[in-house]
Amino acid sequence: MATQWKESFTLHHDRIDAQHTELFRLANFVESLDPRSITKLELSALFKEFFDYMQEHFKEEEAYMASIEYPLLQDHQKLHQEIIDSITNLLREKRSIQELQHAMKDASHKWLVEHILHNDLKIEKWRKGNIVTSDIQQNLL
Ligand SMILES: [Fe+2]
Repeated sequence: MATQWKESFTLHHDRIDAQHTELFRLANFVESLDPRSITKLELSALFKEFFDYMQEHFKEEEAYMASIEYPLLQDHQKLHQEIIDSITNLLREKRSIQELQHAMKDASHKWLVEHILHNDLKIEKWRKGNIVTSDIQQNLL
């Protein structure tokens, strides 16, 4: 089973935490799907819903980073954009249902779950003063 959201992933921001929880849930749901019991159309619709939710979340997370004057806001925005671009490309390609599900699993784990666990948690470490600006700028983490 894939990673579940847990308290140690908190950014101490109710809305962002709730969105991360939902994104983990969606990622796990995608993973658990049996491609034999879902149509390609349903899977594409689910992927689109997941993607839309993720983009809304990125906007809110970026607004939050701006509100606390997070020094790596621009780099983080770039990472969000890379995720969006990669998934946009995936959605454009014509694929079999198995390939589509495989691509969704990859997308949700490689780009989303790892992103949350690595990059989003950096925001909270910085906010709590556990890391300083020069550390993150020099990539000492
Ligand atoms: Fe993020």
